[in-house]
Amino acid sequence: MTDQHPLEVAVIPGDGIGPEVVEAARAVLEATGAGLSIRCLEAGDETLERRGTALPDESLEGARRADAVLFGASGNSGADVILRLRRELGTYVSLRPIRAFQGVKCLYPEANLVIVRENTEGLYAGIENEIAPGVVTATRVITRTASQRIAEFAFRHAEQEGFEKVTAVHKANVLNESDGLFLQCARAAAQGRPSVRYDEVIVDAAALHLVLMPERFQVLLTPNLYGDILSDLAAGLIGGLGLCPSANLGERHALFEPVHGSAPDIAGKGIANPTAAILCASMLLRHVGEREASERVENALQGALAAGRTTPDLGGELSTREMTEEIIQRLEGAS
Ligand code: NAI
Ligand code: MG
Repeated sequence: MTDQHPLEVAVIPGDGIGPEVVEAARAVLEATGAGLSIRCLEAGDETLERRGTALPDESLEGARRADAVLFGASGNSGADVILRLRRELGTYVSLRPIRAFQGVKCLYPEANLVIVRENTEGLYAGIENEIAPGVVTATRVITRTASQRIAEFAFRHAEQEGFEKVTAVHKANVLNESDGLFLQCARAAAQGRPSVRYDEVIVDAAALHLVLMPERFQVLLTPNLYGDILSDLAAGLIGGLGLCPSANLGERHALFEPVHGSAPDIAGKGIANPTAAILCASMLLRHVGEREASERVENALQGALAAGRTTPDLGGELSTREMTEEIIQRLEGAS
């Protein structure tokens, strides 16, 4: 972008492997020379312990003020950090591209699909109550407004990115009213976009089809929880969670985060795969208008993966830092 001021990116490393992969993404962002102004904000389990709040006001404000946010991962305080950030920033879309990489062994090497997950309501509305001793309810909120805007987004995205079909994922056979409303909105959006095909699949069958015939899907339009579960399943098709970025998008804000969590089993070992976070950086660059830098990042990353220069989760021998250096070298070699 040709603005007077450098674009401001807020970075929230978070918990577990969050700081490790965000450090990698940040180094790559800096190496592009895109001239972003990067500011680090604190949030997460350790912040909660130290300050009594997992997401301090100045971090929330900093995220609000930034042109884009790069987030690492949440741990135990996730409901107060990432769920709150998504809500407060009004990012009603969770966009999760699932693309296989050359050189990465996986179940579905041709994968090119995207999950469009409703990001503000459903079971993540956070309304849980003990209504009697030993009886707890969780309220699942589905609204016409949120369902319409996510459905519209899915079709718009399909058109823009050259996808031919949108599939709505539901459980309206059981959740007649709530998923019924979600489907009504999906059907209405489909009517306005005759160039994009539309179909529907029940969520359990979607899980089966994703494994047996993933080519059936292009854009998966889902309520909040189904999208969360199916995105980990889809990550499994292309080689794991270390490879899947996501964009949380709203009218005014954009927050980019890996699909994965804080991965306590590998945190602190320096072996987390930085790919998802670096792809987040690439999506962020594209979002702020730095398309060319975004493509350079993706090409450098693809090169490293194709050459097997990866972390142990993909059978490689590199640490997070070494893989990041490899990518930066390729990036600088190409410029
Ligand atoms: P997880 O996504 O953190 O890890 C699942 C598995 O994938 C682990 O075996 C982990 O080692 C592996 N993995 C994840 N990212 C990887 C990477 N970059 N490189 C290599 N391997 C990777 O999910 P888990 O273990 O169920 O949850 C751990 C914590 O993360 C929990 O506190 C959970 O609430 C939180 N979480 C936060 C999310 C967020 O911040 N958006 C999303 C999912 C979980
Ligand atoms: Mg998840």
